[in-house]
Amino acid sequence: STRFSYEFIQTSQPKPGVGQVTLNRPKALNALCTPLINELNEALQKYNAADDVSAIILTGSEKAFAAGADIKEMAPLTFSEAYTKSFIESWSLLTTQIRKPIIAAVSGHALGGGCELAMMCDIIYCTEKANFGQPEVKLGTIPGAGGSQRLTRAIGKSRAMELILTGKFFSGKEAADWGMAARVFPTYEALMEGTIKTAETIAGYSKVSVMACKEVVNKSQDLALRDGVEFERRVFHGLFGSEDQKIGMKAFAEKTKPEWSHQ
Ligand code: CAA
Repeated sequence: STRFSYEFIQTSQPKPGVGQVTLNRPKALNALCTPLINELNEALQKYNAADDVSAIILTGSEKAFAAGADIKEMAPLTFSEAYTKSFIESWSLLTTQIRKPIIAAVSGHALGGGCELAMMCDIIYCTEKANFGQPEVKLGTIPGAGGSQRLTRAIGKSRAMELILTGKFFSGKEAADWGMAARVFPTYEALMEGTIKTAETIAGYSKVSVMACKEVVNKSQDLALRDGVEFERRVFHGLFGSEDQKIGMKAFAEKTKPEWSHQ
C-alpha cells in the first residue's frame, strides 16, 4: 500500500507486517524541514493505527539518513517564534505516540537533528561508514531534539560531552562499538536487508507482547531502576490476561508454531 502523494517521504511495505518510511529530500540531504516532519508524523500515525503493520523502518538514502534540521529554515527564527510555536516539539510524536517498534536504518549523514531522529527510534542499525554527529555548536547553537540527553544515555557523559562540544563526527563503526547502534553492516544493501529481516522477525510475534516490550524498555530511560522493575512486573502480570500469552506458552509445550491472535 504505497502512497504517492507525499513530497518529502516515501512509504512502502517491504514485507507483510513491515511499514517503511524513506526520507526523500535528496537535494538537501534529507534536511528535516517542517513539511517533511509533518509528512513523517502523518505516515507514522497511519502505520501506528494500521492492523497490517507491526514493525516500522525509518530510513533515508545511501548518502544521507538526514543532515539535520533545515538550517535555512531555522536561520531567521526569533526566540518568540521558536518559543510560542514550541519549535521542534512536534518531532517527538515519534517517541510519544508511536507504540510500534521503529528501527532506524542509517547510511550516510545522520547529523544534528538527523542523529537525534535516529536516537528517537527504538533500534539503530547503520553502515560502517555512516556519519553521525551533533555539530550544532559550529552553528552557534545546541542540539535541540534530545541529542544532549539521548546521546549521553547511549554512549556515556564523557564521550557525549566531547562530541557535542567539538561537533566532531563519528562513524557507524564507532556508534556500534560504543553501544549506540545495535548492529553495523559493511554495505548499504546489507543494512537494508538486515533491517528488513529484523523488522520481519518482530512482525512475526504477537502485537500485544511486542508493544509491551517496547513500552517497558523505554520506561527504563525515564524511571529509577526500582520503579522501572515494578512497572515491568505490573505489565508482565497484565499479559497473563492476553490470549497470545496462552497461545504462545501452549505452542511451546506442544512443540508447535504459535498462531497469534494479536489479542
Ligand atoms: N539544512 C539545510 N540544508 C542542508 C543541510 C541542512 N541541515 N545539510 C545540507 N543541506 C543542503 C546544502 O545546503 C546543499 O544545498 P545547495 O546545493 O542548495 O547548496 C545540499 O544540501 C548538499 O549539501 P553540501 O553541498 O553541503 O554537501 P557536502 O557533501 O559537501 O556536505 C554535509 C555534506 C557535511 C552533511 C554538509 O551538508 C553539512 O555540514 N550539513 C549540515 C550539517 C549540520 O550542521 N546539521 C545540524 C543542523 S542543526 C540541527 O539539527 C538542530 C537540532 O538539533 C534540531
